[in-house]
Amino acid sequence: MAKEKLHHILEAQQFSRQWLEEEFFPELDYISKLFEPDPVFKSMPVLGSPAYSTFLKNKSVCVLFYEPSSRTRISFGQAAGLMGAHVESTSEAKKFSSAAKGESLKDFIRTVSDYHFDAVVLRSDYVGGAHEAAKVSGTVPIINAGDGPGQHPTQALLDVATIRKFIGTLDGLNVTLVGDLKNGRTVRSLAYLLSKFHGNHLSLVAPQSFQMKPDILEKLSGRVSFSQHSNLLEIAQNSDVIYMTRLQTERIPYMKKLPLGWQFVLAKRFLHAKDVSISEAVMEKVRDDAIIMHPLPRSEGFDELPERFTDDPRVRAFRKTGQPGQTGMGLYTRMALLKILLW
Ligand code: NCD
Repeated sequence: MAKEKLHHILEAQQFSRQWLEEEFFPELDYISKLFEPDPVFKSMPVLGSPAYSTFLKNKSVCVLFYEPSSRTRISFGQAAGLMGAHVESTSEAKKFSSAAKGESLKDFIRTVSDYHFDAVVLRSDYVGGAHEAAKVSGTVPIINAGDGPGQHPTQALLDVATIRKFIGTLDGLNVTLVGDLKNGRTVRSLAYLLSKFHGNHLSLVAPQSFQMKPDILEKLSGRVSFSQHSNLLEIAQNSDVIYMTRLQTERIPYMKKLPLGWQFVLAKRFLHAKDVSISEAVMEKVRDDAIIMHPLPRSEGFDELPERFTDDPRVRAFRKTGQPGQTGMGLYTRMALLKILLW
């Protein structure tokens, strides 16, 4: 079969299993090995410039963020920079671009598309922003780095890459998604992507009012089995992967106006009560061969994945025991994607 040509990256459902296996994972493995060499070769000196440093020579990437970000924006910038691309970045587009003067996203994209960028990495503050941008960007690829409470496809790629690394397969898994499944875009994209594989079961753990929205559930029906729960403790033992998320207070009108301290108090009450957070009792049930993930940021105030469990070998959000966690896999994922798109 002919290779699919990737242009825009807009939503998780656009990636086929074939593309993941034949293009993305091989590229990701290649990039990861350049940074995480076999321990035997690790002490050997690197001669000349590293192999990746010129992959994107003479390319330029525009990074536009209308919503706050730490990992996604910095890892995309670093991924492009490490491969030799020029990076232009606006981290607070809402405040410091002409958006503050009322300019539409479409006009901003029309403008930067005329500046000969090779790709635009965009985080918009509403659902469908990336699709809108793709309609007016001409030949310039748009990479959706999160569109409001819509999707976060590159996060889903780094998440499946992390699962594949530590569990060894993406088929036949019990994956437990926990927290604010209604407003969290990472879990929406991850659920789609996991439905491309065989025999997975998704356990959706959230209080009823924070359960995953019907639009996603309808699309998952018939593609992947799922069940809804309100207590993590009951299903922790059966899970191969437990994926924690925070309460998205910025998407809840009555919460976002409150000071952070008050948001924490309410969040603990409504969402991260002990039924949907990691506790000693949950950790006792989680198997040794299972992993616990979090897209981050977690918040000490919310306590869905308390700091005291960070060094537990099952928690794979950060680097541990010489192995990259989700954060490191995020950099390699974005390098692999930019290379596939632009090389
Ligand atoms: C997530 C996001 O922005 O959707 N963070 C990320 O990109 N790693 C998760 C979140 O904000 O809760």
